[in-house]
Amino acid sequence: MKIAEFGVETWLNVWEKKATYDISQSTIASMTMNELLNLDGQGGASFYKLLDQQKMNYGWIEGSPEFKHEVAKLYQHVEPDNILQTNGATGANHLALYALVEPGDHVISEYPSYQQLYDIPKSLGADVDYWHIHEEDQWYPDLAELKKLIRPNTKLICLNNANNPTGTVLSTDLLRQVVKIAKQVGAYVLVDEVYLPLDHPEAFTSIADLYDRGIATNSLSKTYSVPGIRVGWTATNHELADLFRKYRDYTMICCGVFNDLLAVYILRNRDKVLARNRELVLNNLKIYQDWIDSEPRASVVMPQAVSTSFPKLTVPEDIEQFCIRLLKEKGVLLVPGNRFDVPGHVRLGYCAPEKTLREGLKRLSEFLRQYD
Ligand SMILES: Cc1ncc(COP(=O)(O)O)c(C=O)c1O
Repeated sequence: MKIAEFGVETWLNVWEKKATYDISQSTIASMTMNELLNLDGQGGASFYKLLDQQKMNYGWIEGSPEFKHEVAKLYQHVEPDNILQTNGATGANHLALYALVEPGDHVISEYPSYQQLYDIPKSLGADVDYWHIHEEDQWYPDLAELKKLIRPNTKLICLNNANNPTGTVLSTDLLRQVVKIAKQVGAYVLVDEVYLPLDHPEAFTSIADLYDRGIATNSLSKTYSVPGIRVGWTATNHELADLFRKYRDYTMICCGVFNDLLAVYILRNRDKVLARNRELVLNNLKIYQDWIDSEPRASVVMPQAVSTSFPKLTVPEDIEQFCIRLLKEKGVLLVPGNRFDVPGHVRLGYCAPEKTLREGLKRLSEFLRQYD
């Protein structure tokens, strides 16, 4: 089976450990174990109490009942039984695509977005059409274009809400329109929902609550700041969960007892994690906006309290070469836009720790002055 290289991952694999000021990542500043254990106000006693007596066997294969219960609370219409734990959202996307896509199927994917959503279907033999997002429309895709792309044999529409790299959140209204179009041909709609807009999380609508054939994938990596735990999930109807179970047994077995327990602990302390992250995102957004306002070589469609952004940089140089030189000379890491097939832009993760963000932006501006 052939598959394209994963543009962002191959970039990060080479460069991320060399960065002093990493403002390329899309996670909200990751938490230390110490921070996590302090969430319960008892130094993690509630977590250790559970951990202490646990056998390190395979544990609950699909995720513990407690995990499924906590995750189901994030949705209005998803039964705990229909939540399947996966190895991150990467594992969730892979599971759904592997289970659903067959050679010759027609798949429509929001583009650019998370590369799994188009290159895995292609590798499985699907005929993939891109549903483009447009910078001049606040990085929104156009429904009229979707109507032109849809076919009687469209099996699946893949979206990334909010979008990586732009940080644009799709409105409930737009999602309803997508569902209407998908319904006409019986297509599934998979939405990778790892980025939650933290200014108004309650206003976010999951595809799992909008459409019976909707598949929501998510994880604790971005909104919850613990990518190291490698825990994600799929949230679907019963029929899809059963289908996914079949494929899941071949690819992962489980996420591990320790990770499951920590995931439950984090989800039970969700309000505190979201409050920490809301403050960080809103504070950093201001710093970022001030920088954009003062930097003549940068412009951006501002993300909606989501931890990724895609500014345009005016540099008379190949964007990847620019990013490599920026890293080597200033210690600052970005992801060049060509890794999303949009050169001229960079992914800028403004939800790094505040000090890193401030110094990273300062150094980026110093570097940009060479062209004045
Ligand atoms: C849209 C999207 N989905 C999934 C992932 C990977 O998430 P996880 O760490 O949960 O596998 C990323 C990471 O950048 C992402 O941007």
